[in-house]
Amino acid sequence: MVAPVGQLTRGTTGHNRLRRCDRWLVHSPRVRTALQSAADPLVVDLGYGALPVTTLELASRIRTVRTDVRVIGLEIDPQRVSAARAAAQNDSVDFGLGGFELAGHHPVLVRAFNVLRQYPEDAVAAAWSTMTARLAPGGLIVDGTCDEIGRRCGWVLLDGNGPVSLTLACDPFAIERPSDLAERLPKILIHHNVSGQPINALLAAADHAWASVVGHGVFGPRERWRAMLNMLRDNGWPLEPPRRRMRDGVLTVPWATVAPPRP
Ligand SMILES: C[S@@+](CC[C@H](N)C(=O)[O-])C[C@H]1O[C@@H](n2cnc3c(N)ncnc32)[C@H](O)[C@@H]1O
Repeated sequence: MVAPVGQLTRGTTGHNRLRRCDRWLVHSPRVRTALQSAADPLVVDLGYGALPVTTLELASRIRTVRTDVRVIGLEIDPQRVSAARAAAQNDSVDFGLGGFELAGHHPVLVRAFNVLRQYPEDAVAAAWSTMTARLAPGGLIVDGTCDEIGRRCGWVLLDGNGPVSLTLACDPFAIERPSDLAERLPKILIHHNVSGQPINALLAAADHAWASVVGHGVFGPRERWRAMLNMLRDNGWPLEPPRRRMRDGVLTVPWATVAPPRP
């Protein structure tokens, strides 16, 4: 058996921590199409941590898109694999030892949340290419980061050719300004939030728009977030259209909008 690719890191996790990403996944047209058209609807949750709770939550949410989705939680830490198998004996989710090589599986969707965050930035490209090479045709990867209770999140969606988009998501009641999410940017971007870099320009523009639409705050922070998105779009930012009714503050841009300069 080949050793899992990667390194053991802290196993911090928590119930419902990844709900905003799960909600986005089940509503994303691209993710839904990938799942619904897959010959084998296999989803891998890579690096689920000390408890398998977020894997079980992902399974129940993603099966609203397609009931026959198979979910496998992979961990690089063998003790966490044993613990997950014991904790989830009666659930229809499998757990196994694996790393970025995905343990020989060819999933249509991989979620790797709060995994690469603990790696050096220069490990990201190799991890991405190791995973993308294992995807099923049309497969997708979500590489993301969030705070302890999942109020502030950021993730990159990748397909077989590389990164597709960046999404920032939050509880609009829990922020003072959009750039509060900077601390939870995915590893590939977090060190690039400095003047002159595209991600910094996006966050600065979002802060400016957020301040400009302060009047919408009387209708609540969700309406203010929506007004901020409208202003950004009016100012030429290529935002993905938001869903009509959304409890989360979500902002998605094509990867090219924020891609850091190549080393
Ligand atoms: C901080 S926990 C994240 C848990 C969960 N995904 C969450 O966001 O709540 C990170 C986990 O990733 C695991 N990990 C790190 N590198 C990995 C790799 N290359 N393959 C599989 N698991 C990995 C660590 O062992 C750790 O348990």
